[in-house]
This record gives sequence, C-alpha cells and structure tokens, in this order.
Amino acid sequence: MQITFTQDSCLTIPCDVLILPIFEDETILHPFFSEIDELLNGHVSSIIKRAPDCSSFGHLLPLYTLGKMTPQVVLLAGSGKAKELTLDKIRSLSAIVMRKIVDLHYHSAMPLFFSFEKINSEFRLEKIVQAVIEGTILGTYEFNYYKTEPQKLVSLTTIYFAYSDALQHETLLQSANKAVIIANAVNNTRNLVNHPPQYMTPSRMAQYAEHLAAQYHFDSQILDQDQMKAEQMHALLAVARGSSEPPKMIILTYKGDPDSSELTALIGKGITFDSGGISIKPSENMCEMKDDMAGGAAVLGAMEAIGQLRPKTNVIAVIPCTENMPSGNALKPGDVISSQKGSTIEIISTDAEGRLILADAVNHAIKLGVTRIIDVATLTGACITALGNVASGVLTNNEAWWEMLKSASLSTGEKMWRLPLFEEYKEQIKSDIADLKNTGGRPAGTITAGLFIAHFAANTPWLHIDIAGTANSDKENGYNVKGASGVGVRTLVELIQRLAHVHGI
Ligand code: BES
Ligand code: MN
Ligand code: ZN
Repeated sequence: MQITFTQDSCLTIPCDVLILPIFEDETILHPFFSEIDELLNGHVSSIIKRAPDCSSFGHLLPLYTLGKMTPQVVLLAGSGKAKELTLDKIRSLSAIVMRKIVDLHYHSAMPLFFSFEKINSEFRLEKIVQAVIEGTILGTYEFNYYKTEPQKLVSLTTIYFAYSDALQHETLLQSANKAVIIANAVNNTRNLVNHPPQYMTPSRMAQYAEHLAAQYHFDSQILDQDQMKAEQMHALLAVARGSSEPPKMIILTYKGDPDSSELTALIGKGITFDSGGISIKPSENMCEMKDDMAGGAAVLGAMEAIGQLRPKTNVIAVIPCTENMPSGNALKPGDVISSQKGSTIEIISTDAEGRLILADAVNHAIKLGVTRIIDVATLTGACITALGNVASGVLTNNEAWWEMLKSASLSTGEKMWRLPLFEEYKEQIKSDIADLKNTGGRPAGTITAGLFIAHFAANTPWLHIDIAGTANSDKENGYNVKGASGVGVRTLVELIQRLAHVHGI
C-alpha cells in the first residue's frame, strides 16, 4: 500500500473515493464540504437533512459522483458526536471505512479527516495520519493461509493525505512510516497467534525469533531443554514434561543505548497449546487454547517494531515456549516442584501452567540484570470474568511503572485496568507442604496468579498484563477482525519509545 501526500485539490486527485466525515452535531464541516455539496447539486446536505442517522458513528453512505469530480465516490462517514471523538475512534472509523471501500472494489481513498484537528488539541495532524494508517492496515487484515480458495479482498493500493508546507510534510511522512511499522508488527503477531497449534510450535516460535534477530541485529539465544536443565529452570521444564514438542526459551537483546545499564524485560507467555495437562480442560472450545502464546507473540511483534524504530533504550525479550499436554510423563496435581529461584511449588492444578513458566522467565530476566519487567500473558479465565473482552488486567509492584503503562495505553487505545495486590490475598497461595501453591482457588483468580508471579519479581519494578480476554476477538469490531487481535504490541512499543526519552524507574 502506498501512502501519498499531495497538495492537489481533493476534487481533482486521481483517487477512487473521498471520505467525508459527518458529525451528529454537524458544526464542524470539512472546508471542502460546500464545494463537494455544490458539485453534487446539494445532495450531501439534503441527505444529511433527510437521514440524520447517517452521522451516527460508523454509518456509511456512498454517493456516486457521476463525473462531477475526479473521485468516483464520496463516502459519507458517520463520525458521531465531535466532542466524543478520540484518536482510537479515528483508528476504528478508518478501519470500518477502508473495509467498506475494499468491499466496493475500489483501490484508493483520501480521508478528509484533517478538519478533526480543530476538535481537540490532541488531534495533531501527524497523530491523525498515524491513527488512519494503523486503522487501515489493522482493519483490512485477513488470515487465509489455510484456505484453498482464499477470499482475498481487493487490496487498497493508495491512501492520499493533503499537506500544506514542506516542514509539515516531513513530520507527516515520519508518522506514516511509524504507523506502517507498528501496524504490520501487530498483523504479524496476529499471524503467529492465528496459525494452528500443530504449526506454531515452540520450535517455530524460536525460528521466527531468530529470523527477527537476523533481520534487526538482535543478540539471540534460544535455550533448549538441556540448557534449561543447566539453568535450573525446573518450573518451565515441569510444564514441558508432558509434551513431545521440545520447549524453547527465547531470549532476544536489543541494545539501543549501550552506555546505559538500564534494561527493560519484555516477557511473554508462550504456551503454544494449553490442553490443561492432567487437569485437562473440557473439550468444548479447547481449540481456542492455541492462543495461549499470544503474550509471547505480542513481545515478538513489539521487538519487530523496536528493531525498525530503534529507540535509544535497552530491551530484552524473554519468551518461555512449551506445550501443556497430558502424558505418562506429565506433571501431576500433588507434585511438588522447584524453580530457578529455588522456591518450591505445590501443583494443585496442572492447568495453572502459565505462572510456572513465567516464574522462571522472570527470575532468569533478573539474573540477566534487568532493571524493570513487563510481562504479557493469557493467564486467567478469571480476568475474562472480571473485565470481559474490553480491557486487559494489570498487576504491579511499582506505582511509577504503572503510571507509565497507563499513560502509554491511554494513547494507544488498548484498554487496561489495574487490580490490587493486597497482602490478604497471599493467604490463598500458601501451601501446607511447599513455599507456594500454583492456584489460589476461584476467588480473585487474576490477583492470586499475579501474586504468584510477584513473588518471583521480588523487588524489581514489575508489571503484569493479563490479556486472556483481549487477545482474541469473536467478531469484527473497529480495527479488530475476528480472530487474534495482536493486543499488547502497540502499547509495549509506545512504552519502550517513552523509556527512550525518560529514565529513572
Ligand atoms: N490459558 C489459561 C487461561 C485462559 C482461559 C486464557 C481462557 C484464555 C481464555 C490458563 O493457563 C488457565 O488455564 N488458567 C486457569 C487457572 C486456574 C486453574 C487457577 C483458569 O483460568 O481456569
Ligand atoms: Mn492453563
Ligand atoms: Zn494457559
């Protein structure tokens, strides 16, 4: 897809579709509104009068221009109430609009969204460009590797944006470039998650990580089972025991600021299939557990974007990958295992495997000298009970680190909500015979899972994002299509970019 910045009038540029936003409180009209309306014999204003719901958010109405201007269609794009518009809504609106344009078999479009700048000081032109491009690339994503007759939509070839001066042009180009990098990284994360589990094995994830390392010059280290033994990763090895697929521990290092000793760990849960193990899950919907590596995939996506954006900060990705399967060798409920940290763990459910592999990943990251940690994991069904499919759950041991994440997530639109780590909940994961047990029962399941990982994070500033409810979308919704959402990538990248400017947590 080409992105073209032009100083030509939108009425004469060689593009198929002009996207004209219409607000419910119609006070903010595009500067070209009257001209477009006049050329179309007053049709636009009369339609708005007769069918006021065409301004409700996401409502689309194509008007054919019948040779009155170069673009063949003016697509009225309902934009809702101007005062309720956000950058994330611009991202969603762009996705909805571009899907429609592709459905109508057109190839090029020009969104007339720059008038949004007047609505809110946050809507700088470069932010609008970024939201439009991200929305377009994310919203027209399709996964059709396994269809013998792919229903490939027509693809968009060109998006046009207007600009006024050379200085602005440079800023807008940079912003467009960044948006393309980030949105493609999210789509690659979606691919990793959408692939079936017999393909997306721990070895395949490791292979993909090595490909990223080669492309973006990361140091890479992939630990195999013997190296995990040497590193005493007993908790990770315990989960891997039931599977015939060899586990892999992926470690990628990006040194954007070699003079600094600061090092941020991005840790992602990489369970490539979670059957539950001996504590086996019900068969209904078990297929969805191919998504259990979505945290690991988000970290790989973030690294892909970081490798291209090259922020001035140091990042290490740590992704423990294994299947969780039942077998004669598998971990059993009742077993007591050790961990790299040395803490002993009584296994109550083999289905609480995520926290086990994360325990060793977090401890290993600390051993490697990280100064702050953020982990992303499809960790608990309880998080879906608490926050549904709208927001990811966050747990932390550090206020300042949380404030940074909160602010980054507000700017990306990936909704996050913090849950507490009150001392009192610790009671639930105390074991009679070991240091900890791996489940705390039904009440506050997301919190007790968080507390378990917090034990291993100890004093290192740590954030945990539970994406069990947000990693997957069961329907088309804004810039998400059905299937993997790639959640986490955009916020991790935003957070790392912000760290490149501010230090000191
Ligand atoms: N991967 C699951 C969590 C999950 C559930 C993610 C549904 C996405 C959708 C995790 O490994 C798990 O099985 N958690 C258990 C923990 C329980 C045994 C304490 C759960 O949530 O039921
Ligand atoms: Mn599980
Ligand atoms: Zn799991």
